[in-house]
Amino acid sequence: MKKIFVANWKMNPRTEGEAVRLAHAGDFPGSIIAPPFPFLENVGAVLKHASLGAQDVFFENPIPGGAYTGEVSLEMLKKLGVSHIIIGHSERRAMGETDEIINKKIKAALKEKMKVIFCVGENRTVRRRGQKAVAAFLNGQLTRGVQGVMGRKNIIVAYEPLWAIGSGKSDRPEDTADMARFIRARMKTPVLYGGSVTAKNISGFLTHGNVDGVLVGGASLRPREMKVIAVQFKRLR
Ligand code: PGA
Repeated sequence: MKKIFVANWKMNPRTEGEAVRLAHAGDFPGSIIAPPFPFLENVGAVLKHASLGAQDVFFENPIPGGAYTGEVSLEMLKKLGVSHIIIGHSERRAMGETDEIINKKIKAALKEKMKVIFCVGENRTVRRRGQKAVAAFLNGQLTRGVQGVMGRKNIIVAYEPLWAIGSGKSDRPEDTADMARFIRARMKTPVLYGGSVTAKNISGFLTHGNVDGVLVGGASLRPREMKVIAVQFKRLR
């Protein structure tokens, strides 16, 4: 399987101009760019090779006169050309998103034939207890997240240890490889690694991490670094 690159821009960049510039830097085959909702249309318009992703979605369909202030539907995202949706990112879990909500979102997205990038990952306390504890923790998140849709295609699991996200301290590709093996055996899905992936360490993950790709936050916002990443990704894909 060809490798996947996901750029999760989070609540960045600040302007539309910057978003378009970044989109050009991330526009290579195998790339999925997930900008904030307001930039989806303009970013989508410049992509020639990459796919368009969203960072979240709501699970209900719009009903005439219906409620859900602040939410965005699958239908709306589809119309903008979104093909992939990140669901269950740890930053959203930290703001109160539960396994139950995540499960509803995954089910709704699959029903609309969207590809789901389902994020799981342990915190430092769990990691300190060792690989067995990590596997048990991930197993819980995975089981609850895909309840009722286990084994369905269009699910990609992103393994993102919490302590590695945005910290500058990535996992060791050897450890990622163990977890990726566990997740793949359990889920029969592609597995990505996310957490402080940079131009310096991406090749380690793509060659020794036993993963089908990477999910990148911070580095995907640095156009110059993205150019270096793109060259390596194309070579190792
Ligand atoms: P990071 O973010 O690359 O900045 O660590 C990854 C993520 O949050 O998905």
